Amino acid sequence: MSIRCYSCGEPLFLRSLNSFRTVERIIKTMQLTFYGHSCFLVEIKGKKLLFDPFITYNELARDVVDVNAIEADYILQSHGHIDHIADAVSIAKRTGAKVISNWEIHEWFNKQGVANTHPMNTGGKWNFGDFTVKCVVAQHSSGLPDGSYGGNPLGFIVYTDEGTFYYSGDTALTLDMQLIPRWAKLNFAILPIGDNFTMDAADAAECARMIQCTNVVGVHYDTFGFIKIDQEAAKETFKKAGAILHLVEIGKSIQL
Ligand code: NI
Ligand code: MN
Repeated sequence: MSIRCYSCGEPLFLRSLNSFRTVERIIKTMQLTFYGHSCFLVEIKGKKLLFDPFITYNELARDVVDVNAIEADYILQSHGHIDHIADAVSIAKRTGAKVISNWEIHEWFNKQGVANTHPMNTGGKWNFGDFTVKCVVAQHSSGLPDGSYGGNPLGFIVYTDEGTFYYSGDTALTLDMQLIPRWAKLNFAILPIGDNFTMDAADAAECARMIQCTNVVGVHYDTFGFIKIDQEAAKETFKKAGAILHLVEIGKSIQL
């Protein structure tokens, strides 16, 4: 029996009960739009959740994505590095989106004139009405573009009525990820695969095993020289681990 993901055409594996559950969860879908690097948008009950906006300075995205046309109700900021935050202030000011971040980045946004913020920190969760966010450990760093202290980087678990997903942010593979199945049954995960600054595809596939999620969107690859990857090899690495790696074209959406 051969079933393919109707978003990307990757074959789905039906070898175990767990895989059948994965298929079941894929059928109940959420829409994810990829804006390049680690910037993506997930729609939940008509609310638009934008993650780590970086378009203006992304040579692969800036001619494909109109940064001034991006709508957002919330901006989730994993950490303060420029390749995650460069467009966040302008989008927050234009859209009025509420920024969700750690305490230090919340204070930084306030200083930039963005008042609609919600501070959180590692281990904490908050119900925003249409969804709940839990902040989890990311092994990385988090200085802000102007040199301000950016606190600790975060990963996010987002719980919704339509399903649950995990965005790890920039991170190394870490044993903390083994805790995630205690908190969430994931429909999909968004993980960096570009190496050098974060996990490579092999570590991300190991992360997928730890978090018990076979449906992964790869981010943080190919944007600049340090993180250029072999996309087919990365997909093969996931396939061998019994998981699917979706590499979404910039500006395109998939159902997950
Ligand atoms: Ni970073
Ligand atoms: Mn980064």
